[in-house]
Amino acid sequence: MRAWTVAEHDDDVRLSEVPTPALRGGGVLVEVLAAHLPAYTKMVVEGNRGALPVPLILGPSCVGRVIDVAPDVFHVAPGDIVLDTALLDAGGDDQILVGWVGLGGPGGGSDRTDQMRTVWHDGVFAEHALCAKETMVKLPGAEHYPEPAHLAFLPWLCIAATGLHTAGSLAGRDVAVIGATGQLGGAAVLVALAEGAATVTAVGRNKQALDRLAELGPRVRTHQLTGDRATDAAGIGPADVALDALGATPTADATMAAYDSLRRGGTLTLIGGVRQNLTIPYGDLMHRRLTVRGSWMSDDETVATVWNLVRSGLLDLSAVEVLTVGLDDPAAALELAERTTGLGFVALVP
Ligand SMILES: NC(=O)c1ccc[n+]([C@@H]2O[C@H](COP(=O)([O-])OP(=O)(O)OC[C@H]3O[C@@H](n4cnc5c(N)ncnc54)[C@H](OP(=O)(O)O)[C@@H]3O)[C@@H](O)[C@H]2O)c1
Repeated sequence: MRAWTVAEHDDDVRLSEVPTPALRGGGVLVEVLAAHLPAYTKMVVEGNRGALPVPLILGPSCVGRVIDVAPDVFHVAPGDIVLDTALLDAGGDDQILVGWVGLGGPGGGSDRTDQMRTVWHDGVFAEHALCAKETMVKLPGAEHYPEPAHLAFLPWLCIAATGLHTAGSLAGRDVAVIGATGQLGGAAVLVALAEGAATVTAVGRNKQALDRLAELGPRVRTHQLTGDRATDAAGIGPADVALDALGATPTADATMAAYDSLRRGGTLTLIGGVRQNLTIPYGDLMHRRLTVRGSWMSDDETVATVWNLVRSGLLDLSAVEVLTVGLDDPAAALELAERTTGLGFVALVP
């Protein structure tokens, strides 16, 4: 079969002819229908986000059709449409993302995560994928969904929703999404609207992407980041829930503006790629009864919730622009993904 492989740490992603994976214990063989190419895939391949378990077939998540299952797999069956969440969780801090960078817990890994990555390292940017059964969630009825490529956005919607749900119900509350101009942030805006937020304040730098988000409806407000913490806090809030989905930023100012914008009892949830320390005044957090949470990847229950929102039409994926690519030219696909932002993404349809 054809697959995108990375051979070594300083190598590019290449289109390769590799053997179709053979089924083994705990495994699910899927035909890959569509996979989201994250905007920062090129950075991942270049090693800027941690070490890939090379050599590997790249790719964290996809929507696929089950072809075959190992004898010890019972929750999905041939013919099912499934979401691959990429998250293989051995409990405690031992979690890996199959086919990608990123380890759970403090991020340093352990002997056990090394073993997990030895057994399960190949991802889904390929015609077929052998997936660990723990990463598979069934999408009942998805075989009738008219635009399968759109479903490649489900993983990002589920990651965003898992983050938002740490703050409880969103219905009737004021939600702010910092980095709404990115794909994870755009996904969060769609989820918050679908789950009944009173207002959703979309926050980012890119004016064009903010304007596009504003077109989603009258509950969307926008704030273009100024870089001045006090000005940004006033523009973002007051918020009951603030979700930070920013990429790597040189300072924590935008995140702290979101913290400042919270109402009493509010929650700031961090799901982005900011690699800065946050200076949070003890007394302020205490007196304002705030919560600061982290959230990583998604859980199966949230996948079911998000899929039901999409399936019922409450979350309308036609608002998202899908640019479809095939396997032929990985370098061009990664370039395109890097240029794609906000409510647009690149779907690999092998
Ligand atoms: N928690 C999890 O489970 C999880 C899962 C997947 C990804 N992530 C992380 O989430 C982050 C965002 O992912 P994504 O797919 O949304 O990426 P993306 O589409 O590239 O979006 C990046 C966002 O960060 C903003 N940004 C980047 N540099 C900035 C700067 N210097 N100042 C202010 N804003 C800046 C961008 O704003 P503009 O476009 O307006 O410039 C955009 O809103 C990634 O870094 C990734 O590591 C976390």
